[in-house]
Amino acid sequence: MYMEYATLINGVRIPVIGFGTYKAVAGEDKDVIFRALQVGYRHIDTAAFYNNEEIVRDSIARSGIPREEIFITSKLWKDSMGYRQAKESFRKSLERLGTDYLDLFLIHWPKSSLEKEDWESEMQETWRALEELYEDGKVRAIGVSNFLPHHLMTLMETAKIAPMVDQMEFHPGYMQKTAVDYCQQHDILVEGWSPIGRMRMADDPTVAEMADRYDCTVAQLCLRFCLQCHVVPLPKSSSEERMRENLDVFDFEISQKDMSVLMTLPQLAWSGEHPDRERVYF
Ligand SMILES: NC(=O)c1ccc[n+]([C@@H]2O[C@H](COP(=O)([O-])OP(=O)(O)OC[C@H]3O[C@@H](n4cnc5c(N)ncnc54)[C@H](OP(=O)(O)O)[C@@H]3O)[C@@H](O)[C@H]2O)c1
Repeated sequence: MYMEYATLINGVRIPVIGFGTYKAVAGEDKDVIFRALQVGYRHIDTAAFYNNEEIVRDSIARSGIPREEIFITSKLWKDSMGYRQAKESFRKSLERLGTDYLDLFLIHWPKSSLEKEDWESEMQETWRALEELYEDGKVRAIGVSNFLPHHLMTLMETAKIAPMVDQMEFHPGYMQKTAVDYCQQHDILVEGWSPIGRMRMADDPTVAEMADRYDCTVAQLCLRFCLQCHVVPLPKSSSEERMRENLDVFDFEISQKDMSVLMTLPQLAWSGEHPDRERVYF
């Protein structure tokens, strides 16, 4: 399968489509990540919270693909904020993943809880641990997830190294333009989670009509949209056919006019998650 690469500010190359693994191995089917590797994904997005790092390890071993050909991201969960906890979380992720380095390690959310009063110093101390892991050569790039510009500004008050990546919800109908613009102006690569809005985008007539016109599926339109916004999408699918479909987005171009239509949709398919607020359930 054809793949393109983006380059992080420190020169590390990253496949521009990653495979999302949240709930990817729910139930009996333990072969989803193995199938994704077989199909051609070389960028796997996992996290301590997803409880599947051992399955990532076993899938890579079974695939026979050399470790260095696969870009592995993991993240530390809210319960591991703090300098010592972050180091320990990293060590455990390495152990579960059966590797001696990570390609990318992220702070999953900026706050351990919404009630945390000194969340700023907690987050800054967590970042200090990631900086040391990076300086010690244990991880090729470090970053954050679900950080808005004010969280990034807080982090930068004490940081020696700026985050190289910010992973956040991104799809037509929920573009987080302020955060994406801020990151791109500061050379922070944006990765998009729920890039196809968990398929809730399919219900929108504008998006469906446009996908018809480009002779692609709604999922492909959303993924192409991410790429044209210079955002690295992380689609998840359990079906081999849809995994292939989600990689097959390199041979068409959405026009500037249609990009404008997608970029100015009213809010659609938002997950309900926000780093400074309680989750909203729809
Ligand atoms: N950093 C964070 O806080 C955070 C939060 C959420 C997610 N993430 C990451 O982002 C990844 C993706 O997000 P997500 O799983 O929430 O949402 P998503 O990738 O937008 O949507 C996944 C859903 O869409 C379906 N789907 C996938 N491809 C399809 C296609 N071509 N046609 C029709 N349906 C399709 C999947 O069903 P099937 O499986 O049946 O195909 C699944 O139900 C996660 O797995 C995780 O790695 C990160």
